Amino acid sequence: LAATSGAGVAAASRPGGGASADPVFAVPLKRAKVLRPLGGHGRHGAGYDVYRLTVREHDVTVLPGTTTRMRLFNGEPAPVIRATRGRPVVVQQTNALGVPFAMHLHGGHVPARHDGHPADQLLPGTERLFHYPNEQRASTMWLHDHSHHAHAENTYFGAVAGYLLTDEFEERLPLPKGRYDVPLYLRDAKFAEDGSLVHHMEDFMDRPTILVNGRPRPYFEVAARKYRIRLTNTSNERAFLLRLGDGDTMTHIASDGGLLPAPVPTPALEIWPAERQEVVVDFSRYPVGSQVVLTNAIAYPGEAAEVMRFDVVRTAPDPSSVPGTLRPAPDLGEPAVEREFVMSFDPATGQHLINGRPFDPARIDFRPRLGVTELWTVRNTDTKFGIPHSLHTHLEHFRVVDRDGKAPAPGEAGLKDTVTVMPGTSVRFRIRFTDHTGKFMYHCHLLGHQMMGMMGQMEVVG
Ligand code: C2O
Ligand code: CU
Repeated sequence: LAATSGAGVAAASRPGGGASADPVFAVPLKRAKVLRPLGGHGRHGAGYDVYRLTVREHDVTVLPGTTTRMRLFNGEPAPVIRATRGRPVVVQQTNALGVPFAMHLHGGHVPARHDGHPADQLLPGTERLFHYPNEQRASTMWLHDHSHHAHAENTYFGAVAGYLLTDEFEERLPLPKGRYDVPLYLRDAKFAEDGSLVHHMEDFMDRPTILVNGRPRPYFEVAARKYRIRLTNTSNERAFLLRLGDGDTMTHIASDGGLLPAPVPTPALEIWPAERQEVVVDFSRYPVGSQVVLTNAIAYPGEAAEVMRFDVVRTAPDPSSVPGTLRPAPDLGEPAVEREFVMSFDPATGQHLINGRPFDPARIDFRPRLGVTELWTVRNTDTKFGIPHSLHTHLEHFRVVDRDGKAPAPGEAGLKDTVTVMPGTSVRFRIRFTDHTGKFMYHCHLLGHQMMGMMGQMEVVG
């Protein structure tokens, strides 16, 4: 996998032994904190819930014995909002940082003015309300900054939150629920000896510490039963190829846009920046007392491969199961419009380009029409430097049609909002914009690339 290939900034910049200083399985996993609404307005049906999210700097302990200044929502590594389809959420967001912030609900089907356009910034010391209608199917989403030129750093310094939307369809399925439905936010980081976080865009291969819910390579005590594990990769640039134990089967059940058409048993799970992948893992196949390690099969040379460890510590009843079919993907119709997106790197300027051009906030790149199905071809033409790219679209999820002409793997057959395109390959997908007009972004979700121009702006028109 080309996660090992960079823009010529390879091993030379990597100091030796970074990984050895990291604790491995020394700290327990912290479960993501589920936020309580400030007030419900209307108990059932027509009501909505209000949450407060304040982003500010906090000094927290990440590596034992040190203090790290991070930028966090509500002081948490990834606090979680749990929402239900049909019941809107209002977030009262305060920016207590010294830099602008433009909160974006990644995966959200929301009006343009609540989408966190890079120019629609919340200035330091101000607050505003975001309205999320929750009129889309159940999925695992997340919140992060999109402010022009500040988003990569704000995200790297920890300002992410989870947003788990459920609906009746999903609730009816017998999948693991409650405390057995566990969101995990994975990322990499580089720490200086004094514990401070180090952020240089060119360091993307030198971020040897893996954090899960803000904890370095934690262990997690589980019961010998099935768990639904919702993985979100909040790394700026790192991909993971996750393996459990000796390649023990995980049951892949969902991706960016929610449940897959059918479960996919897999020995390895690939997750690129901003993607969500969900698996059901049955820990009842391990005797109580077992320790099962989750590793990253594409760790950079010199890094510890361990991501976290599951310690099976007790038995528990398990009424859950994974049905043989989950949720059919919607029919997006026959495409009436085709577009092409060529992703490339310009070594002369260091810029990453879409169709030969860097992002220009003054330019509308194209205008898709509401309700019209489009076929997008995304080509990564960068065989010279071998840089992988992704394409993420705001507002809508899409369906992959093929990769280099071949039907998508079953794990990619559901709704997606971010696809990775390896060098010299192409991906086609169908997308149809609905409900909301206005300006929305599309971009590579390797945040360093996005910073260096790999973003465009579309205006959805009625
Ligand atoms: Cu996750 Cu445009 O972003
Ligand atoms: Cu890219």
